[in-house]
Amino acid sequence: MVITMGSKRGGSFVSRGSEFVVVANRLPVDRIVGEDGKPAWRRSPGGLVSAIAPVMRSRKGTWIGWAGAPDEEFDPFEEDGMSLHPIAQSAEEVRLYYEGFSNATLWPLYHDVVAPPVYDRAMWDAYVRVNNRFAEAAAEVAAEGAMVWVQDYQLQLVPAMLRKLRPDLRIGFFLHIPFPPLELFWQLPWRRQILEGLLGADLVGFQLPGAAANFVRLCRRLLDARHVKQDVLWEGRIVRARAFPISVDVEELNDLVARPDVRERAQEIRADLGDATVLLGVDRLDYTKGITQRLQAFGELFGDGRLSPGQAVLVQIATPSRERVEQYQLLREEIEQQVGRINGEYGEIGFPVVHYMHSSYDRAELAALYLAADVMVVTPLRDGMNLVAKEYVACRSDLRGALVLSEFAGAAMELRRGAFQVNPYDIDGLKGTLLAALEAGPGEQARRMRTMRRRVTEHDVDRWAKTFLSELENPARPEPADPPPVAVQAG
Ligand code: ADP
Ligand code: G6P
Repeated sequence: MVITMGSKRGGSFVSRGSEFVVVANRLPVDRIVGEDGKPAWRRSPGGLVSAIAPVMRSRKGTWIGWAGAPDEEFDPFEEDGMSLHPIAQSAEEVRLYYEGFSNATLWPLYHDVVAPPVYDRAMWDAYVRVNNRFAEAAAEVAAEGAMVWVQDYQLQLVPAMLRKLRPDLRIGFFLHIPFPPLELFWQLPWRRQILEGLLGADLVGFQLPGAAANFVRLCRRLLDARHVKQDVLWEGRIVRARAFPISVDVEELNDLVARPDVRERAQEIRADLGDATVLLGVDRLDYTKGITQRLQAFGELFGDGRLSPGQAVLVQIATPSRERVEQYQLLREEIEQQVGRINGEYGEIGFPVVHYMHSSYDRAELAALYLAADVMVVTPLRDGMNLVAKEYVACRSDLRGALVLSEFAGAAMELRRGAFQVNPYDIDGLKGTLLAALEAGPGEQARRMRTMRRRVTEHDVDRWAKTFLSELENPARPEPADPPPVAVQAG
């Protein structure tokens, strides 16, 4: 294949020679209509964009993704040092592929079925169609022998589709969310196609070793694939399954919390909240995040008299997410009722006990919130990693604050020793842990925070990307099989 110099399309430049290509459902920016009625670009929600954007800024590459608006076509453009290559989706495809198969089928299935997954053939057909479009775009944009890094559950068929079109490429795949155990994955009517899609990659990355093990076990049981440890032999190639726990941009957060305006804003937030101890939740409004459990536990502490109004406040920030999917609409209603009930019961004029904001904030405001919070409350029922937990730790160079962290967040594997761990299904346990975190003194806070900060600062997002990409760059070396057990000779 010839590396061309790029071509003009619709008056703008289309690169056909990218040595490094990221393929993700979303671009890092969303097309929105601004307050003045004019179209504008806004940072896209979620952990994937938080992690991949800094990686892309530091490497010259192309990011292929959707601009978040149905029925709109955009030419490739440059933004914030990144080359962006938009992929269109019709309103029907958004409904069936994005809201449907991605977020009503795969999302709940991969998160321990905490909501019932929908199995619908029209949704599957759209998933295949849109995955194909992404694969074709990547095949067009990538240079000979380029590295293509496909992201997340929305695009699991792309690796095999792309390999068919461009066998010269090195293809990596990273799953940002959990990968379910065989017993759950087996429900999926298209389970075989999904596995075969992923096996098109040279390297399949997961957040945790357990997820990589689930994948390898499925390849063996469902496809009869041979494997040596985490190396799966497939169509004459070795496909490596490995864990790469994702992380945050520590440098960006360090810079933010060093800014005088951010520190002033943190003080202002605290002053607005009175003398109360500040608990903070920051999540996309998603049923996997355990927001209702968090609210219930917090509210009950007032009902039990273990907390009194004025003593503690919970600031809950929930980014609007997937608002046309039914489960998300139901969740929003439930949370808003819960907040109303708690404030109605325990709040006083001008002093609610829960401050609930259904909106998205910029990075500086988030950093100020992290600095203002005494206790960060992260209680997902299941989460691939949870970057919010790591962002909080990265922001607390003052060694203050406490992190309450669900055992079901991927981050618990690394932050276990410093966090106050909880099972969010156990409301009484959650209440006890919230109080323990509220009561931790400066010495205990510093000890725990230091342990967590060591891990997060040494394993930041840059290291994550470098580790993945250098593994992808290296040709597969089969993992040595365990030596046969040595017979112990008697006598
Ligand atoms: P998920 O990827 O499921 O959304 P993560 O916790 O891994 O969960 O990542 C969420 C990302 O979105 C973090 O980088 C966090 O800072 C950002 N974020 C979450 N809520 C908000 C908000 N209200 N405003 C702006 N950014 C947010
Ligand atoms: C999680 C997923 C991402 C997704 C993000 C936001 O982080 O792993 O793939 O982009 O949530 O969700 P959305 O549906 O708005 O893209």
